[in-house]
Amino acid sequence: MENFTYHNPTKLIFGKGQIAALKEEVPKYGKKVLLVYGGGSIKRSGLYDKVMEELKAISAEVVELSGVEPNPRLTTARKGIDLCKTEGVEFILAVGGGSVIDCAKTIAGGATYDGDVWDLIMRRDVVKSALPLGTVLTLAATGSEMNSGAVITNWETQEKYGWGSPHFFPKFSILDPENTYTVPRDQTIYGIVDMMSHVLEQYYFKQKNAPLQDELCEGVLRTVMETAPKLVNDLQNYEYRETILYAGTIALNGMLQMGTRGDWGTHNLEHAVSAVYDIPHGGGLAIIFPNWLKFTLDEGLEKTKRLAIKVFGVDPAGKSDRDIALEGIQRLRDFWTEIGAPSRLKDYNITDEKLGVIADRAMKRGAFGNFYQFTSEEEVTELYKMCL
Ligand code: NZQ
Ligand code: ZN
Repeated sequence: MENFTYHNPTKLIFGKGQIAALKEEVPKYGKKVLLVYGGGSIKRSGLYDKVMEELKAISAEVVELSGVEPNPRLTTARKGIDLCKTEGVEFILAVGGGSVIDCAKTIAGGATYDGDVWDLIMRRDVVKSALPLGTVLTLAATGSEMNSGAVITNWETQEKYGWGSPHFFPKFSILDPENTYTVPRDQTIYGIVDMMSHVLEQYYFKQKNAPLQDELCEGVLRTVMETAPKLVNDLQNYEYRETILYAGTIALNGMLQMGTRGDWGTHNLEHAVSAVYDIPHGGGLAIIFPNWLKFTLDEGLEKTKRLAIKVFGVDPAGKSDRDIALEGIQRLRDFWTEIGAPSRLKDYNITDEKLGVIADRAMKRGAFGNFYQFTSEEEVTELYKMCL
């Protein structure tokens, strides 16, 4: 393992009816609240009314920013930053999925910064502070509810980047599985693919002697794979929603990555695709990850073989390491296809037409990937071609 310090200050408030905790948590940070939400799902589900009731009970002054897009845009975050500055907002409450939370984090960072938030995102300056934020999560996927990262899209320049700061850890996150009942089947599937991809990213690392990290990753993957097919056919089942919601948080709150450094190349590759085509993140990952596993078969042989046996139940008897690994990759592909995830870029009508632009975006911040490093646009393009 590498030396590490782990400090995750987010207070996780999990379970049925936990929305009532807003009354205790919000007043710790201020009275003037910016409520950030998406395109209306929280109004349709009734969650908006419940949140407003809690905020009214503590006489919070609420300013609203609605309409945060899936793959949230810089322009929307800038609107929120302006609201914070002009209205004197003290606390940001994000109610939604990863996009709403990431937008809220970007607003939190921009609100206490004198310059343009894009300079922070582009790492031309360092985040020194942020407004405090809390979340009410409505979709199990990104782990943003308990991590310090945010992903934001500059649609004008077709760039989508992850960034973050320890200041972005939510002060608290409320996770009630019932708030995920209304997530449609397709978004439920994308969320499942996303959380599995987070585990897979962290499963591939170069550090030695991390046996527990391996086992933890395998346990999360097996649990998600056991539950996911049942959930997609029974979307309002509390127990399945509960398991998947918890798994999504564990998959990306830093616990699986202590002392190791996950790869994260596939995420960079996917962000470049959704920067140009605005496709759902989980859909893109479902297409790219199995191809990344094939592309890195030689370098990753030992790990992919282990994955095949321990997670996908491949029987190794009489087979070469390569055949075992390839069978594992096929089982991952089949699993995602069976639950309804896409498998080719053409499922989103993406052809080779803009591969050059996508590859340029993938390489824009330089070489990437901690386990397998991509160093050129040509190499990246080769992988994208496998995904067409
Ligand atoms: O906008 P509304 O109306 O709320 O609808 C959303 C949206 O259309 C809907 N939805 C969410 N909760 C719902 C619901 N519909 C009905 N009932 C509910 N309870 O689902 C749609 C997708 O929501 P979104 O927030 O975009 O999904 P997700 O949570 O998958 O977030 C995706 C974004 O997070 C980034 C992705 O790149 C993408 O931009 N990521 C963020 C990460 C992080 N901060 O750590 C890591 C991830 O790897 C990822 O990159
Ligand atoms: Zn992801």
